[in-house]
Amino acid sequence: MPSVRPRLVAAVLATTVGLGSLTAVAPPATARASTPSPGGGSAGDPLFPSMGNSGYQVRHYAIRLAFAPRTGRIDAATSVFARTTHPLSSYSLDLQGLHVRSVRVDGHPARFERHGHKLVVTPRRPVRGRFTTSVAYAGRPTTHIDPDGSSEGWVPTDDGATVVSEPVGAMTWFPDNNTPRDKATFAVRVTAPSRLAVAGNGELVRRRSQAGRTTWTWRQGHRMATYLAMVSIGRYSVHHSTMRTTTGRRLPVWSFVDPRYGSQAAVRRLVPRAVRFLERRYGRYPFSSTGVVIDRVGVGYALETQNRPVFDGAPDAVTVVHELAHQWYGDSVTLTRWTDLWLHEGFATYSEDLWNAVHGGPSPARAFRERYDANPASSSLWSPAPARFSDPADMFGAPVYERGAMTLQVLRERIGTSDFFAVMRRWAAAHHEGHGTTAQLVALAERVSGQDLGPLFHDWLYVPARPSGY
Ligand code: TRP
Ligand code: ZN
Repeated sequence: MPSVRPRLVAAVLATTVGLGSLTAVAPPATARASTPSPGGGSAGDPLFPSMGNSGYQVRHYAIRLAFAPRTGRIDAATSVFARTTHPLSSYSLDLQGLHVRSVRVDGHPARFERHGHKLVVTPRRPVRGRFTTSVAYAGRPTTHIDPDGSSEGWVPTDDGATVVSEPVGAMTWFPDNNTPRDKATFAVRVTAPSRLAVAGNGELVRRRSQAGRTTWTWRQGHRMATYLAMVSIGRYSVHHSTMRTTTGRRLPVWSFVDPRYGSQAAVRRLVPRAVRFLERRYGRYPFSSTGVVIDRVGVGYALETQNRPVFDGAPDAVTVVHELAHQWYGDSVTLTRWTDLWLHEGFATYSEDLWNAVHGGPSPARAFRERYDANPASSSLWSPAPARFSDPADMFGAPVYERGAMTLQVLRERIGTSDFFAVMRRWAAAHHEGHGTTAQLVALAERVSGQDLGPLFHDWLYVPARPSGY
């Protein structure tokens, strides 16, 4: 797979943006300043080079869709409010499958072509500065299959559909700049038969019923990566309450539970406790509401969809803690390239260790020791290295999750518990609703501790071998 990828991408770029497309990914400074050029069909991530577009940044997505459960079809319109990084004669959005009826740019009909998952838009006149693309589309969304064989994106269920889009499935239900580098606010309006409920991210701002159909409007006012955007449509028990954070802030809680799993009262009681547990260690909860979605999805994993993680079936406590920890690390502070995924998964896995330690389990030091001793040098825990791999099929493997968590424990033992949690809190605060890189984390840990930590992070994150001497 990785060996054919670059060729595939070159082909996509050549067909989508025409002549000189490969250089158009990074146009010369003079061209960038004045002459309109194609936006380039890549946001530049080496693991997913055909995703995204570096020619613009999205501010806001407004998504409207009607869902027909009998056919599984959607009828949809998405407006993408964006700003150019340089004047654009054409540009691409990512959209897999579905039939595009029309595209308008700033209200004017625009030409469009489809090349694989690239929707290439050529506006009547080049765009510069703010511009709005409105796409009307319909059809039965496809489910995206990942390099590791797992399903993501729009997933039909026996009572509706659920979206879980890490890493690239967002393009199966709305046209987007499909890269975590481009975070935006969202408004999502879904109409479905009134016997079904619709979960989404952020806050429920409106619910209106008419002629047996109900429209649910969810608003996400905190910038969000496209892979975290979620709707889930199905037969649900809907639970609405409020909780208090550690600072006394009132937080709305909306949870959606597939009644086939009972009422999940224990999980729902756990949510406020876990949020406060994490706040005491990592600082203020980064968003304005919380909750869970518990559904029969059939994908075999949970996802930290912003505000409201999705669980495939009844979760255990550490999985709830894991997905809620991602609200700080992953959702609020988001990676800039997918090879830094340990900044999400290592942190969430370490949060499980912290929870276990005060709920009858081993200390984080002990958990580290068990992982280290149970995995001989030949174990797949040690290769590829957590932050250096080239095959996207390695994203959700033990090195990223477990060796990522071990890296944090090694850091903690090196700089001490007090400095360690200062790093965790400052990381969350300084990059709130933004992005981070491993290099920035290392720099922060060095500033807080006053130590040279380069060799430690190098051995733990970049070398495909078991670090010795532990
Ligand atoms: N990021 C998810 C979590 O750790 C897991 C996940 C998302 C995943 N997509 C996946 C795991 C695909 C395996 C395969 O909470
Ligand atoms: Zn995770």
